Amino acid sequence: MTQQLPGLLDTETLRKDFPILDRVLHDGKKLVYLDNAATSQTPRQVLDVLSEYYEQHNANVHRGVHVLAEEATALYEGARDKVAEFINAPSRNEVIFTKNASESLNLVANMLGWADEPYRVDSDTEIVITEMEHHSNIVPWQLLAQRTGAKLKWFGLTDDGRLDLSDINEIINEKTKIVSFTLVSNIMGTVNPVEAIVRRAQEVGALVCVDASQAAPHMPLDVQALQADFVAFTGHKMCGPTGIGVLWGRQELLEDLPPFLGGGEMIETVSMHSSTYAPAPHKFEAGTPPISQAIGLGAAVDYLSSIGMDKIAQHEHAITEYAVKRLQEVPDLRIIGPTTAEDRGAAISFTLGDIHPHDVGQVLDEQGIAVRVGHHCARPVCLRYGIPATTRASFYLYSTPAEVDALVEGLEHVRNFFG
Ligand code: ALA
Repeated sequence: MTQQLPGLLDTETLRKDFPILDRVLHDGKKLVYLDNAATSQTPRQVLDVLSEYYEQHNANVHRGVHVLAEEATALYEGARDKVAEFINAPSRNEVIFTKNASESLNLVANMLGWADEPYRVDSDTEIVITEMEHHSNIVPWQLLAQRTGAKLKWFGLTDDGRLDLSDINEIINEKTKIVSFTLVSNIMGTVNPVEAIVRRAQEVGALVCVDASQAAPHMPLDVQALQADFVAFTGHKMCGPTGIGVLWGRQELLEDLPPFLGGGEMIETVSMHSSTYAPAPHKFEAGTPPISQAIGLGAAVDYLSSIGMDKIAQHEHAITEYAVKRLQEVPDLRIIGPTTAEDRGAAISFTLGDIHPHDVGQVLDEQGIAVRVGHHCARPVCLRYGIPATTRASFYLYSTPAEVDALVEGLEHVRNFFG
């Protein structure tokens, strides 16, 4: 029987905001959507803002003097204000709109790649990441290291899915230029100890970049409290549309560092010999930006704020705690990552005996249960734990204990199916 858990949101009311959650799939099976770490669903409140934008205000921004252009510009820049407030940024000019978190992280790597002293990355310098990063926080740094000759170093993982910081003083040292790490692991759900890493990075004068893709949707995010230099996240995992990401950066860095993409919008003046650049954030937003997507993200931020990020975090904590407990009751199931709810987010990866995760996902899908299988763009984690892939269930503000029960029952089917 489904549990009543303390701290849950009123999901019966809240789920009415998400039309897709009413979908009925194969053989009348109701959709159980547990793939929120890949992308979240979109509430009516965001869908309405998007259609109103296209029906009433669609125009290019910053360019026209006509009414629609002014309205579109006000909505686009208004979205920047909303995001700045949502993450407690000291200034709206520190919020850069990108296509997604990958682009945000690539932007940081490229700002540094083209920078002069004191930010210059060269063969005498080191870049630090971790073994639990999404590929989008590994590959841009590999590319930068290859181009500049810098050394790429990383924190390894403990057996229980946490960062091994035992040699933090050697890994982050006087040569370190930047430390880039995820706040919450997309594959294991681990919440990382930001404070300890930031403290050490500050001791040696290294910059800190935090990938908050799996944090911004799920918990209050305060960039000032994090004390990082850059924070990246994406809109489509937090009730917004795809095609919109955010890079927050400290103002003085954004003033000092060079742009990456050149083109319209990011300039002050252009001659055939040289150009000067617009101040941040426009310096980093070349070309027509993702206008409707940014406005949609603004609406998503309004939606999440109206519920309250504290309450969303509390809800997910209760669901995750329940899911960790129930999943551990399934014979042969091994959770890859922390098995306590305290320092973990709402993404839970597991293996089930020697049944291949793709088969697990297939049989769950036949029951209407959507999970993600594979290496989740974090292949080094699978290599570390000697597994080809995992099955990952990930929860959000509309997830219910009944959906956790459906997952556990679904896994029983999987076990019976494969004998
Ligand atoms: N980064 C997304 C995930 O973890 C796509 O599924």
